[in-house]
Amino acid sequence: MKFPEDFPSKLPDVGTTIFTVMSRRAAEQGAVNVGQGFPDYPIDPRLAACVTDAVAAGFNQYAPMEGSVALRAAIATKIAAAGGRSVDPETELTVSCGGTESIYSAIQAVVGAGHEAIVFDPAYDAYDPAIRLAGGRCIHIPLEAPRFRIDWDRVRTVLSERTRLIVINNPHNPACTVASAADLDELAGIVRDRPIAVIADEVYEHVQYGRAHQSVMNHPELRHRSFAVYSFGKTLHITGWRVGYCVAPPTLTRELRKVHQFNAFSIAAPLQAAICFYLQRHPDAWREVATFFTAKRDLLLSKLSRSGLALPPAEGTYFQLADYSALGGELGRCNDVEFTERLINEAGVAVIPLSPFYREPPAGMRIVRLCVAKRDETLIEAAARISAYTNQRAGT
Ligand SMILES: Cc1ncc(COP(=O)(O)O)c(C=O)c1O
Repeated sequence: MKFPEDFPSKLPDVGTTIFTVMSRRAAEQGAVNVGQGFPDYPIDPRLAACVTDAVAAGFNQYAPMEGSVALRAAIATKIAAAGGRSVDPETELTVSCGGTESIYSAIQAVVGAGHEAIVFDPAYDAYDPAIRLAGGRCIHIPLEAPRFRIDWDRVRTVLSERTRLIVINNPHNPACTVASAADLDELAGIVRDRPIAVIADEVYEHVQYGRAHQSVMNHPELRHRSFAVYSFGKTLHITGWRVGYCVAPPTLTRELRKVHQFNAFSIAAPLQAAICFYLQRHPDAWREVATFFTAKRDLLLSKLSRSGLALPPAEGTYFQLADYSALGGELGRCNDVEFTERLINEAGVAVIPLSPFYREPPAGMRIVRLCVAKRDETLIEAAARISAYTNQRAGT
């Protein structure tokens, strides 16, 4: 064996994610980037001031492995203020490197060789590789456009003695749907009396358009077997800070921390202190998130109203889906990856195709994802370029 050239990859099918690829392409071509989910507007200056204060106050060395005591207390206060249950920050709350690390550590904590874990496609891309690295088998259940609802009967058909984990994502990226109370009851019925843990990826908990968030944390049964995952990146518009957290019952938290302490170990001390100061000084800041994003989504929808795209209003997340199948001619016949290529090359707009979120993309997928977490000018420019392009090309 030639080393390292022939060294067997543990994830042979994994390349650079579609998000990174599209952001790179957008930068190279000077395209308007409404692809990857990150804000392009400045953060709250009061939050920036908290970082300066944190560094000056000496929060510059290793933070505790499970997260700063003060930040965990502030998170528990915020959870209660948002109508959540009482969480013990000592035994049920762990600060992680973004929501991603909570998801990874939770998966490593409960999935092992010979186990199976269920995810729903289109799925956020971090789940499947983490399950396989843990030695498990990932079972993908497709959700069908345009409603993308979970078929719980279908879930029952794939359960086995080996099932150890079900991963749900609510609100759902990229489907932009939110789960109902009935969905959580169905899930509870499925896992009842079985050794199955749940990861509820709830990083968009506050990005919901007029609906109440249904959290596993508040469900009388699911709370006892779930890792609920959150992200300050999403809630405070600071995706680059990489600070998230996981709420789980003490036994699951203990196992998650065993992985976390040898993976991330602990999270940037000044950033934890800054978020803690911010939550203490501005305890209601997160309440503005839903109104803020509703305005962004509605702006994008109105500016795309003459584009010929079908735009089922997003129920939650940073995103809005656009179905281009009604466009006439060649454009309407392109698959979603080709359509995305054309948009970036010919219209100067980067979006994300939906099929890479599926293990087996449904035939004829004609949907792309646009990010609404952008300055109004970015959304207006992206919509103008898309509309001009679709109108010029439709029917040709
Ligand atoms: C559904 C979903 N889960 C998890 C994450 C990761 O969150 P973080 O950036 O805090 O790691 C994202 C980020 O885009 C996401 O969309």
